[in-house]
Amino acid sequence: MAAQNNAPLPDGLEIAGYRIVKKIASGGFSIVYLAYDGDGAAVAIKEYLPAALVQRLPGQLLPTVAPADLPAFRTGLKCFFDEARALAGIHHPNVVSVRNFFRAHETVYMVMAYESGDTLQDYIARQRSRNSRVGEAFIRSVFVQLLKGLRTVHAQKLLHLDLKPANIYLRTDGSPMLLDFGAARQTLNQDLPTLTPMYTPGYAAPELYDKTGGLGPWSDIYSIGAAIFACMVGAPPQPADQRRSDDKMAAHFVQLQGQYSAELLQLVRWCLVLEPLERPQSLFALQKVLAALPLSLAVLPPVLAAQQAEGIPARMLARLRAALPQALRRWLGHGAANASAGAVASTRGGNVATTVAGSESPRDPPATRQ
Ligand SMILES: Nc1ncnc2c1ncn2[C@@H]1O[C@H](COP(=O)(O)OP(=O)(O)O)[C@@H](O)[C@H]1O
Ligand SMILES: [Mg+2]
Repeated sequence: MAAQNNAPLPDGLEIAGYRIVKKIASGGFSIVYLAYDGDGAAVAIKEYLPAALVQRLPGQLLPTVAPADLPAFRTGLKCFFDEARALAGIHHPNVVSVRNFFRAHETVYMVMAYESGDTLQDYIARQRSRNSRVGEAFIRSVFVQLLKGLRTVHAQKLLHLDLKPANIYLRTDGSPMLLDFGAARQTLNQDLPTLTPMYTPGYAAPELYDKTGGLGPWSDIYSIGAAIFACMVGAPPQPADQRRSDDKMAAHFVQLQGQYSAELLQLVRWCLVLEPLERPQSLFALQKVLAALPLSLAVLPPVLAAQQAEGIPARMLARLRAALPQALRRWLGHGAANASAGAVASTRGGNVATTVAGSESPRDPPATRQ
């Protein structure tokens, strides 16, 4: 087992035409540096350096890998390289922009446009430290944009598989982008994963625990629901494996009532359904719902709530509900029928998926990766 904290490259080092300014982050798999390219533009360079497999002491440039760890190191290296190559082909304002990737120092480097900002995780923590909560308008605006970016990723037959607030970056202008596609190596058209993807408890879909495949856009959709839930509660949902035996999520949703619109809460519950086929099956289905999301009476101004007694908002609400996409309406009906105690709809075995997916077939075999 190698050292947990590897030495970063020294400040000022020139590498492949870039000059390292400083380390800005390090995690279990990589170190990220601020650097400048030949034109003086700021870039973020991510270096593949899995702490569990390699050791690099201060003053060294090359990592040392124990012979027993070499196969795992090389597999991870290839995945990192594939990730960089796939991302370099994706150009979307809500997906991190990969400009280049290269091999050096017996490892791989990914060069991204440097963005100043902060992760959604930091934003949530700041809100909590002020005893404030992340508002619905913010959540809707951020996630509508993120879904556009993620849709582009899915269109390339890639899954993210590690979506969580720490991998969502908020630029200083407020626009969000998806980061860290470390698990995007998982292509949509593989029946079985060749590598067990990494996952983060709470944010990972239950099928990620199974190691038997069955992953798809619905797996990222679970994590999107989990990330919105984290915005609302300030903590991730109960891990999916625990939910399978003792699901405690319903109580959270009861507490959230009145703080967020009923429609947004239903949407999150829909994404967090344990049974993959009962979730929205594609981002398109999810976007339709999110874009059509009306504000419920719970967040309408009090003057409108007062009118409820006269029945006006009830009719208005009925019209708004009628405007909801058919898929969500059906699911809401299904959930209401099954959730007399307000439980999260996680009915198993029913053939709901085909109706939830609406016009989209839930498991159309995706095309081959480009
Ligand atoms: N393009 C970028 N611009 C600015 N900072 C970045 C960029 N990419 C990554 N970072 C910083 O590095 C941190 C870790 O990046 P990430 O890709 O999530 O790697 P890890 O595998 O270590 O989680 C991010 O939280 C962010 O602070
Ligand atoms: Mg990360």
